[in-house]
Amino acid sequence: MSPESSPRPTILIVDDGPEIIEVLVELLGENHEIIFSTTGRQALRLVAAAPDLILLDINMPDMDGYAVCRELKANKDFRDIPVIFLTSYSDNEELIKGFAEGAVDFITKPFLPNELLARVTTHLQLRMAKREVELKNSELDEAWRLVRHQKEELAEWNANLKNRVLQQTALIRNKAEEARQRTDRSQTVTETFVNLFTKMLELRHTQLIKHSRGVATIATSMAMALKLQQAQRKNIEIAALLHDIGLVCASDRVAMFHGVLARDDYEEYMNHTITGEDFMYMVEELREIGRIIRHHHENFNGTGYPDKFSGKKIPLESQIIHVANYIYDLFTKETGLDVKYRITSKLAMVMGTLFDPELAAAADRAIQEFIPETEKPQSDSKEPQK
Ligand SMILES: [Fe+2]
Repeated sequence: MSPESSPRPTILIVDDGPEIIEVLVELLGENHEIIFSTTGRQALRLVAAAPDLILLDINMPDMDGYAVCRELKANKDFRDIPVIFLTSYSDNEELIKGFAEGAVDFITKPFLPNELLARVTTHLQLRMAKREVELKNSELDEAWRLVRHQKEELAEWNANLKNRVLQQTALIRNKAEEARQRTDRSQTVTETFVNLFTKMLELRHTQLIKHSRGVATIATSMAMALKLQQAQRKNIEIAALLHDIGLVCASDRVAMFHGVLARDDYEEYMNHTITGEDFMYMVEELREIGRIIRHHHENFNGTGYPDKFSGKKIPLESQIIHVANYIYDLFTKETGLDVKYRITSKLAMVMGTLFDPELAAAADRAIQEFIPETEKPQSDSKEPQK
């Protein structure tokens, strides 16, 4: 801000000579606001008007200019007001003392008007320039304060965001770990009991486990052909392996039968589906397997057992095992050439009655994969002739 563009600057004139004050008012009054005092003490009161410059006489009766200047410089509210001493004489000692008290300049009386105006104008301009710098500095300080505040807020926000992300990540990680542990535990339990039940089949009769493994291989092949999900394929594999686990409780005559069963034995045989489900029900992880096992002798036309389910009501997994069971039994009975062809032909004859025709293609593919070209199967049939 320049003096020209600002309100008229105020000058405090302090001199015990009224004629000096009169001359100064004459010289400066046109472009400046003038307040004046003839004593030092009164000047210290008038300074509350915050003049932009003080013209201060040194030699005054009550309180000399040095003392007035000293008090002004001791007050933080007034110490920045430039003081120009007015003196009737000038020597080096006086100059040194005046500057030591805080004066910015000296004007010797009687003064030259142009010199006086030049010095006053110069110091007012310096004063304005200093104020402008102070104002800019203040604005800069405020700007920096705002920047620092924003940086602190941003840092705090980022820190909180990071903490929130870390908390969420930890939460998800813990849940994932719990889920993994549950899955691991579940898999361990499943594997343990599958091994246990498989061993039971093997101990009951080697033919039982051989039959189960054969049916599991064919059923798994069909599940692959049907492009079932991995979890569903795994269930089919396990259920196929254990589908006859109920037979471990059956009599030797039923468990290892060949040919046609008597009526009472057949009823005992049919019960192996329910017994198998009961075994699986004991293990929570295998209950779905139990449901599949229960229905592995249901026929598509509703003539099977134990619930006489028909069509799509029969679980798909159970239907697949039923087909695989049928294929494996034919495989153990058929001998000679063209075994695949004869099995495929016989299977085709019961599609729509025993089995869902939609499973025919998957069954054919499983037959192609399961039966080697040169295989000469040996009879190990255990299924009742119906
Ligand atoms: Fe069975």
